[in-house]
Amino acid sequence: MADLAPARPMIEIQGLQKSFGGHQVLTGIDLCVAEGDTCVILGGSGSGKTVLMKHMIGLLKPDTGQVLIDGEDLVPMGAEDLARVRNKFGMVFQAAALFDSMTVYENVAFPLRQHRQLSEDEVLSRVRAKLDLMGLPRAVEGKFPADLSGGMRKRVGLARAVVMEPKIVLYDEPTTGLDPITTDYVDEMILAAQRELGVTSVVISHDIASAFNIADQIAFLSKGVILEQGPPEQVRASEHPTVKVFLETWFGKND
Ligand SMILES: Nc1ncnc2c1ncn2[C@@H]1O[C@H](COP(=O)(O)OP(=O)(O)O)[C@@H](O)[C@H]1O
Ligand SMILES: [Mg+2]
Repeated sequence: MADLAPARPMIEIQGLQKSFGGHQVLTGIDLCVAEGDTCVILGGSGSGKTVLMKHMIGLLKPDTGQVLIDGEDLVPMGAEDLARVRNKFGMVFQAAALFDSMTVYENVAFPLRQHRQLSEDEVLSRVRAKLDLMGLPRAVEGKFPADLSGGMRKRVGLARAVVMEPKIVLYDEPTTGLDPITTDYVDEMILAAQRELGVTSVVISHDIASAFNIADQIAFLSKGVILEQGPPEQVRASEHPTVKVFLETWFGKND
């Protein structure tokens, strides 16, 4: 954040441990994401990134530890409180997960229609504002997801994730499987959502270039522990052998 005032923590995870049937997946996670920041969780496949993200939205409960969202611990919460806290989140999954039988417009309008009693005029102006934010032209409103490129679908997914103006947006591997140009577009959209809407973002990635492009903070996860956490420069300079090897696969080629 550009602000000089100390940032308020939006997501604070303390001492989180989680195992599945004796298999310890997260072995003691401490992570803090400040309001308005973009935190990238970087790590190899199977390192526990998605499991960690599911704890942030209360889809999984830890064996031990706390998960504070905007100051409230999710762990002891019942269904009603969890539903209330979940309304602070937008989610973008690896697959865009759009409804195939709905137009782009209806896909983006969907959360508004689910949660709010809004006039058609209000729905229209909110949907268009988010399509504009994602750089999607009016011509795509009436199209179906199958008629769009992968990158366009991704942008529609982002527009839908932010249409409720969430405080926090979680992205699980938003650029996996995309070509480099589309990846750059999606990175731009993530930054636009942060800049224009002030959202706090958590992005799971194994794409190092993308991580260093968008992150205020990077948390490097390996085998269920965060080995390094801090601004990109700090993670780049990490002396931890696992972090170094992982980063060199990319920086080694591109320095
Ligand atoms: N619901 C579950 N039940 C049992 N094991 C799980 C479950 N979810 C994830 N795991 C295991 O946890 C580990 C980390 O998974 P995950 O968080 O999906 O990794 P990634 O870093 O690739 O997102 C994997 O070994 C996976 O098999
Ligand atoms: Mg995953």
